[in-house]
Amino acid sequence: MSAEKDRWSSKAYTSAASFVPQLTTTVVSYLSAQPHERILDIGCGDGPLTAQIAAACAPGAVLGLDASESMIATAQEQHGPGSEHGQENLEFKVHDCTQLAQCADAMEVQGGGWDKVFSNAALHWILRSPSTRMNVLADIYACLKPGGTFVFEMGGKGNVEAVHAATIAALVAEGVDIVTAREACPWFFPSQEWMRAALGEVGFEVCKVEVEYRPTRCTERAGDGSGGLEGWVRLMCAAMLEAAEEGRREKVVRRVVQTLESVVTREEDGSMWLGYVRLRGVARKPEDV
Ligand SMILES: C[S@@+](CC[C@H](N)C(=O)[O-])C[C@H]1O[C@@H](n2cnc3c(N)ncnc32)[C@H](O)[C@@H]1O
Repeated sequence: MSAEKDRWSSKAYTSAASFVPQLTTTVVSYLSAQPHERILDIGCGDGPLTAQIAAACAPGAVLGLDASESMIATAQEQHGPGSEHGQENLEFKVHDCTQLAQCADAMEVQGGGWDKVFSNAALHWILRSPSTRMNVLADIYACLKPGGTFVFEMGGKGNVEAVHAATIAALVAEGVDIVTAREACPWFFPSQEWMRAALGEVGFEVCKVEVEYRPTRCTERAGDGSGGLEGWVRLMCAAMLEAAEEGRREKVVRRVVQTLESVVTREEDGSMWLGYVRLRGVARKPEDV
């Protein structure tokens, strides 16, 4: 369970960021799930990617963990055992992965650990706090079998930089002091160098850590007002928006969206693209530990 407020909604995620579990060909190829493997998915969200992995490693087992009750409820409903398209080798649990060591299901796997730990688009949230950051990586290492692999993709240094800057500026314009505005940021986007060093420090052999600049097209704004650039800002920047007084939050959203529209819109067709920077990696727990 998480002490953090659940700001996620699987409905808002689907309309504003449905591309996240879809733009994963490279990281899924690095995972290369094999039949019989046991794979742990950290920050699994509403589960379509976790279900894809479970299908690839059947009859092995997959456990998806996520701190959001809303995301896990949708994952269970759509992909869990007993659901219409559910798979028997797939389980989902609500758990705050900043406290991975407290998840008995993750740490004490029958058969002595997980073959692989996977994470897509979640570690920049989970590694946010400097006080738990290294523990999370050490716990991932601990729950792997010797010779096991950790495969991840997350936001890297410079990810959605324009959004980040526009939101801080809008908060300050609406009376929030700069330190509070900075601290409200819910993400940690590490550099390649930071990630390599951190993985090495907890004992991993780093096979690769790479960066990709991947401009990503915003979804279309739906008739009910969800999705699009504004839907993305409302969902992904929710924690930052809350730094403003309640009565001024809508003004912050308007300022952020108007500022962003001027830099993310393509002249040729009016489409809007966010500057995603992906940090992707593969690290191995040595055999002889
Ligand atoms: C952008 S979504 C990615 C979901 C999924 N991996 C995918 O590829 O679609 C980020 C997810 O990280 C989860 N998350 C954020 N902080 C977390 C934490 N401390 N523990 C577990 N999950 C967390 C959120 O609840 C959310 O579902």
